[in-house]
Amino acid sequence: MAEFEARPLAGKTVVLGVTGSIAAFKVPHIASRMTAMGARVVVVMTENATRFVAPLTFETLTGIEVVVSMFPEKGRKSVASAEEALERDDHLRHVHLAEAADLAIVAPATANVIGKMAGGIADDFLSTELLAMTCPVLLAPAMNVHMMESPAVAKNLETLRSRGVIIVEAEAGRLASGAVGKGRLADPDRIADMAVDILLPEQDLADRRVVVTAGPTRESIDPVRHISNPSSGRMGFALAERAARRGAQVTLISGPVSLGPPDGVKYVTVTTTDEMYEAVSSEMASLDMLFMAAAPADYRPKVRSEEKLRKGPEPMVLELEPTVDILSSVAGKRRPGQCLVGFALETENEERNARAKLERKGLDLIVVNNPKMEGAAFGTETNVATLIGRSGGVVSPGMISKTELADIVLTAALEEMGEKKSER
Ligand code: CTP
Repeated sequence: MAEFEARPLAGKTVVLGVTGSIAAFKVPHIASRMTAMGARVVVVMTENATRFVAPLTFETLTGIEVVVSMFPEKGRKSVASAEEALERDDHLRHVHLAEAADLAIVAPATANVIGKMAGGIADDFLSTELLAMTCPVLLAPAMNVHMMESPAVAKNLETLRSRGVIIVEAEAGRLASGAVGKGRLADPDRIADMAVDILLPEQDLADRRVVVTAGPTRESIDPVRHISNPSSGRMGFALAERAARRGAQVTLISGPVSLGPPDGVKYVTVTTTDEMYEAVSSEMASLDMLFMAAAPADYRPKVRSEEKLRKGPEPMVLELEPTVDILSSVAGKRRPGQCLVGFALETENEERNARAKLERKGLDLIVVNNPKMEGAAFGTETNVATLIGRSGGVVSPGMISKTELADIVLTAALEEMGEKKSER
């Protein structure tokens, strides 16, 4: 059975420089995320960094020996040495690693490494490496608020910025010292997102017209009550954001949610399933890819009361009628080359039911998850999903963030389209 390319960073080499700050404990998450996306992550630590996080932590996550010393040590059997990872057999690691790197991330970056980079000092492996690099460098400072505000650090950061180093600004908050102020390492997911953006400059969705639906819809019972569901809209918003970052022209059609729209997308808000259907239909002629991540209400009250219904002692019967099935209706009007992606919630026989839904609704790809599973429930930041393609491809990437899943879904949809643009 064909496998989808769930590793959009395959073939990319990332050098992750870790320096001696307590914030180093947050950085294994970045190594793990980039590795899961297929990147070859070579972690380079300063001696001081190894006092905060054990190299073994990174080696276990990346499968590649952590480099600390200028001179190669005998690698452990269970991980690849940096030379093996680079498929080189010599000792000019700092040069070859610098040449092989598509991106360097320095996180956390202490005042010391920032000063060394600004001043061109190369007195350990990481600083030597950084001096030899020609690839983009992402620098995420973390330090005490007073050091952060010192004229020396501010000037060094300015110097690096003017040379094209991308600074991921530290955040304000409670610092390890107990002080409150700017100096906290940026959210590791923010650093990883920026890294992915830099590494995927192909803009593989450039010129594609992408429509994403998100959130629940609401069907009124009376002026103060409605039928709805707890969909947060997060999956659809993540898809819209990632599609926009990958170059697509994105329209995000959302039911009532409490999220702000991502930058650079056309945002259309709707309330009912009918309104969502109208909004999707009006985009149908021009779209290349439709991602129906919304959870539209399947039923609505047959009669909507104009006045608030009064309660009484008798049981109340609410007669419901089906709403339009948006995907099935628009699938009947699709042009050749258009890609339709559905999402399914299944509490049992996930794969079998989803495959049947893919056939019934005429989809190219379906993303199924079981809301009963931990990490896949409504409103969570994560998802545990299986992707099933019309051409037979299946992938289950495990519990990952909705942003990561969005990238995998977009890549799988492109593969289902055979990378072809639809006929306009
Ligand atoms: N969907 C739709 N229009 C609806 C309801 C759902 O287009 N009125 C879309 C959803 O956005 C999702 C897909 O259909 O992409 C599957 O939704 P789901 O509710 O799981 O499937 P149903 O066909 O409604 O089947 P059932 O509820 O019986 O599982």
